[in-house]
Amino acid sequence: MPIVDNIRAIRWEDNRLCLLDQRLLPQQEIWLKLRDYREVAVAITQMVVRGAPAIGVTAAYAMALAMHDMREFADWQSRLAGAAAEIKAARPTAVNLAWATDRQLTLAQKETSSAEAAATILLQAAHDLLEQDIADNQQMGRHGAALLPEQGGILTHCNTGSLATGGYGTALGVIRAGISAGKQLQVYADETRPWLQGARLTAWELQKDGIPFYLNADSAAAYLMQQGLIQAVIVGADRIAANGDAANKIGTYSLAVLAQYHRIPFYVAAPLSTVDFAMPAGAGIIIEERPESEVRQCAGHDVAPAGVQVRNPAFDVTPGALITAIITERGVARPDYLHSLAALRV
Ligand code: MRU
Repeated sequence: MPIVDNIRAIRWEDNRLCLLDQRLLPQQEIWLKLRDYREVAVAITQMVVRGAPAIGVTAAYAMALAMHDMREFADWQSRLAGAAAEIKAARPTAVNLAWATDRQLTLAQKETSSAEAAATILLQAAHDLLEQDIADNQQMGRHGAALLPEQGGILTHCNTGSLATGGYGTALGVIRAGISAGKQLQVYADETRPWLQGARLTAWELQKDGIPFYLNADSAAAYLMQQGLIQAVIVGADRIAANGDAANKIGTYSLAVLAQYHRIPFYVAAPLSTVDFAMPAGAGIIIEERPESEVRQCAGHDVAPAGVQVRNPAFDVTPGALITAIITERGVARPDYLHSLAALRV
């Protein structure tokens, strides 16, 4: 069954970066048009755009906007380095942000003919990165679909689809590819408290693209597995250490522990740009703490007594030992990840 893949949440129009505001989905589909790299950095911090690959693509455009504005200055190189530092500070966990920003900075620094030429090159590089991300996700889908069962339930967490990437998605891309290949898959989407990426974004996306799914409370995962309804778990990642430890949305680690107990395969799908080869193990990954209000409230309404103390880590780290395989655009890595991931690197 061919799958519809119509959603694109990042586009370039009239010299502006247009982002579908993910804070307002599914109730409102509002596009923001950004002209200044600082506005883009704020949009990343405030999660107008989120998901590691989408943040990377957005950062590449932020650098193109910064370069465009700085091209008149004699000291544009140091100004651009300052902009890169501001952009990278927008969120700490997803490595794609620093990866894409540094890539653009290096490209600009290599361009010696003129600042004008550097601006043209960075904009083209951002367009290319967006297209490459979609192609990589489709390739990841082809590799990953082969691992999914011919039929059965697939549990996923957070949002890893078109909204979280340039398009098509990582873990959701693998599910799309599996369904396109004729597999009879029933998706179970965790609602993903506290920000509700599953309930608000994955549910919106799957409904729009006509993919059959149930939305479930995060705490239902163990029960669903116990009932034999889940044949595989597949999630994305924000940063994968060289040894295969994978940071992803809070709640991912619990799913991996549950999957091991129930002897269900647990897959991570991510592009190689999400692998931080300079990070030896997951313990070194900085975990973003987000505002307390996200936990005290649900969908903007207070649910806890005023003033309660809150912990709101936005990510956790799943040890590589709990991951059955890591699916990338260049192929599937299996333990031991230190060697299998390095072998996929160009
Ligand atoms: O806080 P978010 O919504 O940016 O977190 C996103 C995730 O954790 C995704 O699972 C991850 O970025 C992979 S997206 C393809």
